[in-house]
Amino acid sequence: MPIVSIKDTTKVFEVNKDEILYDSLYDRGEELPHGCLSGSCGACRVDVVSGKENLQPPGVIEQNTIEALKDEFTKLHGSDFVKEKEIRLSCRAKVIGDVTIIPIK
Ligand code: FES
Repeated sequence: MPIVSIKDTTKVFEVNKDEILYDSLYDRGEELPHGCLSGSCGACRVDVVSGKENLQPPGVIEQNTIEALKDEFTKLHGSDFVKEKEIRLSCRAKVIGDVTIIPIK
């Protein structure tokens, strides 16, 4: 079973393969930041610090929201901020292997 870790914490969760990242942690008592839970608001954004290949590729809705977030972050923090991050939406990303994440505030 895949392991999801939250960076800079001791939080480590064993989850089911193909579970949605947000749902998998919520069901195990960890509530990540969120809003719409449908892929459009971007409030559930996380930086995948390792194991990005262990999330299924983003669909169109998630990809569009990620691109909008990148534009917003570039305006706020500069382009290096975006280049250093692997942004995914926890309410859309399916876990297929071990990942380490950190919510982006
Ligand atoms: S909670 Fe809105 S995009 Fe995930």
